[in-house]
Amino acid sequence: MEFAGAPVEGVGEGGAAGDVLDKIFNNIMKSNSIFTNRDALRNDYIPDRILFRDDEIAQLGQMLAPILRGNKPSNIFLYGKTGTGKTVVAKYVMRKLGERISQLKLNTKFIYVNARLASTQYKVLVELGSQLDISIPFTGLSLSEASSRIFDKLRRDGVNVVLIFDEIDYIVKNYDDNVLYELTRANNELLGGNFVSIVGISNDLKFKEYLDPRVLSSLSEEEIVFPPYTVDELEAILRDRVKMAFRPGVVSEAALKLCASLAAAEHGDARRAVDLLRVAGELAEREGSEEVSPDHVTRASKSIERDRTYEVVRSLPLHAKLILAAALSVPDETNTGRLYSNYALMAKRLGIEPLTQRRISGILSELDVLGIINAPVVSSGRFGRSKRIRLAVPRDAVARALREDELISSIL
Ligand SMILES: Nc1ncnc2c1ncn2[C@@H]1O[C@H](COP(=O)(O)OP(=O)(O)OP(=O)(O)O)[C@@H](O)[C@H]1O
Ligand SMILES: [Mg+2]
Repeated sequence: MEFAGAPVEGVGEGGAAGDVLDKIFNNIMKSNSIFTNRDALRNDYIPDRILFRDDEIAQLGQMLAPILRGNKPSNIFLYGKTGTGKTVVAKYVMRKLGERISQLKLNTKFIYVNARLASTQYKVLVELGSQLDISIPFTGLSLSEASSRIFDKLRRDGVNVVLIFDEIDYIVKNYDDNVLYELTRANNELLGGNFVSIVGISNDLKFKEYLDPRVLSSLSEEEIVFPPYTVDELEAILRDRVKMAFRPGVVSEAALKLCASLAAAEHGDARRAVDLLRVAGELAEREGSEEVSPDHVTRASKSIERDRTYEVVRSLPLHAKLILAAALSVPDETNTGRLYSNYALMAKRLGIEPLTQRRISGILSELDVLGIINAPVVSSGRFGRSKRIRLAVPRDAVARALREDELISSIL
């Protein structure tokens, strides 16, 4: 995450720099910081109260409850758009069930693994192993050998596992479903009466298409769908968070409502709502302001948008980046044909074979889905269907991300 807000001017200019630093440090040291508990705004914070998710919590609790009698629960699949509370609900239920499990002294363990953070299929198993005190070497084993090693140990020790496998689509989209295949084949024979159940979480439903039918049917024995939050729900969630994180009266009513409505426009995303509140609070604090105002929220929103654009563009594949470079080279709006010829020119200048128009159309649709460009189809006379294309995000953030690419920076 980038340091939000205006650059600190005057740093490195002797006296002025000292003044600036004094101001920064004084603001931080003020005993009456606007925050009372900053951690309550962190992304991984699990609030004591989860609002508007009673049904999902009850369903998940019901589905997992058999573990309290030592029985295997179904594999479960949770999905819904980003920021709809999947992770927080899964961790909450895991914590509550974990308390019961330790009261009952059951030999069942909850393990949470985030596929995106683990980054490879093999590391998922290393992580799973390490949380179970099973050492898996960092290299040298196949996925199947590594999972067998885990299963052997579970069978010997008579341990059951519920694996919360978050952001599972990351692995499937970047690799294949082999690790899921290995994990879902854990059955009686391999585990001698013990079980490994999986709670898979994804914000992308399309990823199911990448799954082998056997893995899919095994993984989604049960499903829970998380709907987006409404603006009123986001407001209530934020109100709770404001009480936990800020001194009373610091966050103005108008600022809170603006956070909720901006996040509601972003498909009812509670993460965006909480992020806005945090970044707006940081801006206010940095300026020594006693109040978080709508203006802080507006600026927070721009800064988050820039950061998001930068992160997304930076991790795009080469040809997608080249298309964006081509889009930057024209003033504002263009069409598919012109964009394609710009792109092809740039590719040739870099000594890269351009992809076909058809492939590029595919990439444009993906960029549209990501919200990076706007490309509604318009019909344009004798050329048939064509798209009018416009960048949907701040140009400077796109340019900054592209300049980081060694190859592309040479033609920008
Ligand atoms: N019902 C809720 N009550 C209180 N806070 C919530 C609620 N739902 C989400 N949040 C907060 O919103 C943020 C995002 O929620 P969460 O991480 O669970 O989203 P997610 O559905 O897992 O999204 P992603 O698919 O992007 O991982 C977290 O800070 C979480 O604490
Ligand atoms: Mg999540």
